[in-house]
Formats: sequence, structure tokens, C-alpha cells
Amino acid sequence: MEKKMKVMGFIGSPRKKGNTAWIVNKILEGAKEEGAETKVWAFNDLDIKPCQGCLGCHNGDGGCVICDDMQKLYEELKDVDALVLGSPVYMGQMSAQAKIFVDRLSATNHPRFYPQFKERAAIKMILVFDQGNPDSSLFQTYYDYMKKMFQMLEFDVKDVVVVNGMRNGPAHERKDLHTSMKGIGLSLVSEKILR
Ligand SMILES: Cc1cc2nc3c(=O)[nH]c(=O)nc-3n(C[C@H](O)[C@H](O)[C@H](O)COP(=O)(O)O)c2cc1C
Repeated sequence: MEKKMKVMGFIGSPRKKGNTAWIVNKILEGAKEEGAETKVWAFNDLDIKPCQGCLGCHNGDGGCVICDDMQKLYEELKDVDALVLGSPVYMGQMSAQAKIFVDRLSATNHPRFYPQFKERAAIKMILVFDQGNPDSSLFQTYYDYMKKMFQMLEFDVKDVVVVNGMRNGPAHERKDLHTSMKGIGLSLVSEKILR
């Protein structure tokens, strides 16, 4: 039997029923419809401490030495095919919850830990930011920077999705988003990527 593509979503908002959760889940819904196996994690439900800069990940063979829920995510990430990382914009950047995860990913760069993971270039990534401000270009420099940062880590960044105008109403009430977010998930799996 053909192996299903494993798509993992990450929610960077503390609001369980907020915009980010809805958007990430809608993308995953599209991916699942196209045949992928999907799973979603909300950072706020997990105990993930900020990187301590101890370089424990560089000094041993076992990767990050902090014993918290990030260890579960390292295991999950070992055979992931695609990541959907969603965050609300907080003060012009990703949320603290999302940033802590991104910093902790740095442990996977170490040459003795890295081989336990799939080749980065084979891991597709969709970055999703949702913001209150209606001007989607307002934080473009930051979005471009984040894309570049993940590309430097050699992830295959397929798209940076910006959902703006969230102060005018919740994402689920925006009919256009039902189709477009699901479409992003479908395309991620079918490789008809993207804009
Ligand atoms: C602490 C905080 C800071 C925010 N900062 C910004 C901002 O700088 N620019 C912006 O456009 N929206 C900002 N917002 C609005 C959120 O990005 C927006 O409402 C988002 O969709 C919330 O996502 P959620 O429902 O998943 O929590 C901020 C919201 C909060 C709570």
C-alpha cells in the first residue's frame, strides 16, 4: 500500500477556537481530503521551555537535553513530510509560543542529531500568519525574512500565507477563506503549488 504523506500542523495561538487554529485546521482538512495523514499540535497545550543556549544538543548524540514536550515533537518530526506552521501576528511578529518552537528546532541542526530526521529539502513547509490589520503588506519584510530563515535551514518552503483583516471578524465567518485555505492543503499534497 502506498505510504500516506504525513502533514503536521502547529498552532501558535493560545486561543483554541481562534483564527489561527481554524486556518491551520482548514489547511489540514484540504490535505486530508487529498489523501494525507494529518495531525495538529497547539503549542499552548504543551510544556515547551525556551531554548537555554546550553549547547547540550551540540555536545552529545541525543539532541536537545531539555526534558519537556518538545521531545515528543522531535520524535514526530523525524518522519514528517510537510509542516504547516501557523501563528497570529503579535506586535509585528510570530507569537512567543511559536518562536519558542522555532528556537528549539535549532537543536536539529546538529550533525549528530540531524541524520535522525528526513532530509530537510524533502520537508515541505507552509507558513501561515494571521493579523488584525487589513493591510497585508504591513509586515511583508518580516514574512519575507521568516521565509528566508526557513529556506536557509533548507526546508522546502512552498508558501507564506497571510490572512489579514482579522479585526473585522473571525476567520470562520469569511466564506473566501473556507475555499482558499482548504485549497492550500489540497495543493500541498497534490503538488500543484501554489501562488
Ligand atoms: C498581544 C496581541 C498583539 C497583536 N499584535 C498585532 C499586530 O502587531 N498587528 C496586527 O495586525 N494584529 C495584531 N494582533 C491581532 C492578531 O494578530 C489577530 O487578531 C489574530 O488573528 C489572532 O489570532 P488567534 O485568533 O488565533 O489568536 C495582536 C493580537 C494580540 C492579542
